[in-house]
Amino acid sequence: MARGIVLFGAPGAGKGTLADKIKKVFPVVHVSTGDLLRENVRRGTEVGKKAKGFMDQGKLVPDDIVIAMVRERIGKDDARKSGFMLDGFPRTVEQAQALDKVARIDAVLVIDIKKEDLRKRILGRRSCTKCGKIYNIYNERLRPKREGFCDNDGTKLMQRDDDNEDTFEKRWNTYLGQSEHVIDYYSKKAGLVRRLDGTRTMDLSEEELRKALS
Ligand code: AP5
Ligand code: MG
Repeated sequence: MARGIVLFGAPGAGKGTLADKIKKVFPVVHVSTGDLLRENVRRGTEVGKKAKGFMDQGKLVPDDIVIAMVRERIGKDDARKSGFMLDGFPRTVEQAQALDKVARIDAVLVIDIKKEDLRKRILGRRSCTKCGKIYNIYNERLRPKREGFCDNDGTKLMQRDDDNEDTFEKRWNTYLGQSEHVIDYYSKKAGLVRRLDGTRTMDLSEEELRKALS
């Protein structure tokens, strides 16, 4: 059975950014359902066509679509061999139950952050469409060296369609409606849930990361 960990947190909590950091210490396969869905939207696939409306409204894409997509991805050789790190999945108890049928979860990292800290993160986020690197124009440590372009490959940075005030509010409300159930689900399994302070995920040392994931 494939094995992996889950990164859980509000929109803009820093899941993707933390995943990049973890990858440098543990060479696991990073599976972001948001990134996979956006890729499907870009390519105009059937999944992308079905998902777009939900994403633009800050709602969850139906479970069957997302579960099938994750199952396929974590069933691939690389994820089976190296393990996986899920970012943005599961978001419902149904998704968590479906995951338990096909994989073993070793840790659930919950990133705690207040709503008022998230607005600037969401509105200031820019990302590279080529390598996926995430920036923030309002944060000195997270700004690209050359405004508007990726440090890694010089690609023009983009702003996500759902990163506006209106959709952020909707995404936040969706999160509030679902998060408690998923955390409750995992809290019933002893020792699985580990809480991280979302204001200092960028400063976590390798030792702290190892401890959180041990
Ligand atoms: P998804 O792409 O997963 O979006 P999200 O959960 O809203 O999370 P984000 O990607 O916005 O934030 P993040 O936590 O990754 O933060 P990041 O590291 O980028 O999902 C999008 C949509 O797809 C959903 O709304 C839904 O429609 C659909 N979907 C996805 N998964 C689904 C599922 N399982 N079921 C159903 N539907 C699903 O950081 C944010 C910003 O903050 C960046 O600018 C970054 O530079 C900055 N930052 C990061 N860490 C710090 C820090 N410690 N201090 C200061 N700034 C920081
Ligand atoms: Mg993300």
